[in-house]
This record gives sequence, C-alpha cells and structure tokens, in this order.
Amino acid sequence: MSTVAKLQRTVLVTGGNKGIGFEVIKKLIKQPSSINDDLILLGSRDLKRGEDALSQLGSPTNVHLLQLDTLSKESISFATNEIKQKYGGQLDVIINNAGIAPTDDSVEEARKTLATNYYGVKLLNDNLIPFLSDHGRVINVASGIGPMVLGYVSKDLQDKYTSATLTSEQLDCLVEDFVLALESNNLEKCGYTTELPYLAYGVSKMALIALTRIEAQQCSDARKIFVYSVCPGYCATDINKHGPGARSAELGADSILHVVNTSDHELKNGAFYRDGTELQQICMDEAKIQAFIQLMKHLSASK
Ligand SMILES: NC(=O)c1ccc[n+]([C@@H]2O[C@H](COP(=O)([O-])OP(=O)(O)OC[C@H]3O[C@@H](n4cnc5c(N)ncnc54)[C@H](OP(=O)(O)O)[C@@H]3O)[C@@H](O)[C@H]2O)c1
Repeated sequence: MSTVAKLQRTVLVTGGNKGIGFEVIKKLIKQPSSINDDLILLGSRDLKRGEDALSQLGSPTNVHLLQLDTLSKESISFATNEIKQKYGGQLDVIINNAGIAPTDDSVEEARKTLATNYYGVKLLNDNLIPFLSDHGRVINVASGIGPMVLGYVSKDLQDKYTSATLTSEQLDCLVEDFVLALESNNLEKCGYTTELPYLAYGVSKMALIALTRIEAQQCSDARKIFVYSVCPGYCATDINKHGPGARSAELGADSILHVVNTSDHELKNGAFYRDGTELQQICMDEAKIQAFIQLMKHLSASK
C-alpha cells in the first residue's frame, strides 16, 4: 500500500472540475502559507474533464484527481477504496459540491436529481465520514431554494422535514413519497405545490439540509465531527446556464470556504449557512419566493 505523507489537511471537493467546486479548489491552493500545504482531492466524474481542470490550475502537486461519480454506487465504492489505499484513509474536510438541476419536471429527471443531490451525498458521507479526523467536517452544498420550497409545502410536511427527531430512514420515505406523488400526479394532495418550476431540485436541497441536521447529530454523538450545509448564493455557472443577475462562482466559493475555515465553536453544528450567516430552514419571505418563481420561469422559458 502506497500512502502519501500526511499534509496539513486532506480536503475532498466533489464536482471539482468546474463551476463553484473548481473555484473552491482554486482558492484553497491560494490560501496563506500556513495552510497552503493542504492535499486537495479534486473529484470529477469524468477523467478528461478532471485532467483539464488540473491543468487549468497549473497542475499543482498538492491537487490530486479522484474519479468520482456520485450517481454510481460502484464509483463511490472505488473512490472510497482509493482514499483508503492511496491516502491512508485520512480525510479532514469533505465538500459535497457535485450537483445537478433537472432539465424538466418529469419523474425521470426528478429521480436523477434526487439520486445525485440527496442519495449520492448520503452514501458518500456514509462511506467517508469514518475516515474523518477529529474536528473534521462535512460541508453539504445545498441551496436557498430548499427553504423556499419548504415555505411552500403543507404545514404537515414542514413539521416532518424540520422535526428534531427526524431519522434518516424517515427522511428517505419523505423523499420517496415526493417522487410517488409526482409520478401519480398527486403533488397537491400530498402537500406539495405545483406552482414552483423544477420542484425536484428544491426538494433535493431541502432534504439535504434536513440530512445535514441528522448527520450532525449522529456525528457529534459518536465523535467530534461537524456537518454543515451551505448555500453558495445564486452564481453564474452551467447549472443555471449563467442566469441573469447571478453573482460570480468565486463568491459562491467564498460562501463555502467560510464554513470550511471558521472554527467549530463559531459555527452551529448541523446549521445552514450562506456568506457566513446562518439561514432559517424554512423561508417565509413571500417577496423572495416570488422573485425566485419569476427567475425559474425565465430560466424554464429560455431553454
Ligand atoms: N450556481 C448556483 O446558482 C447555485 C446556487 C445554489 C446551489 N448551487 C449548488 O452548487 C453546487 C455546484 O454547482 P455549480 O453552480 O458549480 O454547477 P456546475 O457548474 O454545473 O457544476 C456542477 C458540478 O457537479 C458535477 N456533477 C454533476 N453530477 C455529478 C455526479 N453524478 N458525480 C460527480 N459530479 C457531478 C459536475 O460535473 P460535470 O462537469 O461532469 O457535469 C460539475 O463539476 C451544486 O450542488 C448546486 O446545486 C448552485
């Protein structure tokens, strides 16, 4: 077994080949000299796209490519083994950044979106959290759209998604019930709205925020490991076809890195952050929701 000598921190960034994940890595390698010897694992589902990203970064020796498709159990298992074999099973930070948005409101796209943004993160965390050092942390990249969608569902669903006693099995059932409701054309009856375009994306992110709370509880019960969710803000990237009025992916990366670099005692385990500020798990701000609906309609019409 060949192991790499332990550098200051080992940081995995999934979906690191472009967009916000790529900007996170770019910033990590430019950090002040006290922590610039981080070993960074640049996750990319496609080797060629990962290699291109590495060369765009100038091929720094402390950034290593890790092939990782979060939609594939085999790929997650292969990457887990690689971390064990090559890096001695040592991780300090996991940034679950890889994500997709559905291209339409079909059941097929909803399943793919939930598989990538929710189930893939959950499986990867189940595999990799045992590798985290004490005070290690997990950052699940969610979205402010999650709380907006939660603000729009029935009171019963709001209570279930935000319950302090919600288990991960119950959360899986909530997610599955959503897909079944979509499949059977019963969204309204099951407490969901049909007013929001790309609903599956919002549901995937609200489930991820709930999962973060559950994982944080489990990890702090067992060991000193911290789990947070972060919204990078609305950033111009491929996921939204560089939508109008979006800020830079670089600012999105700052939002994530704030939670990576702030000390444990200044953050609340399991909480949801954007730009260093804790956000509510349910957004009831009607003006924000209406602006979001308009934006989604615009994006949907411009396809
Ligand atoms: N941009 C925004 O306004 C915004 C707002 C809120 C939250 N977010 C979240 O921020 C994260 C990054 O998004 P982005 O804006 O940077 O979008 P992006 O430019 O489309 O990048 C998405 C990244 O995820 C990767 N990815 C997708 N599916 C994957 C899979 N199955 N396995 C591994 N990697 C996969 C993509 O790889 P490929 O190149 O191979 O496709 C790409 O590297 C996502 O979780 C997104 O939901 C974005």
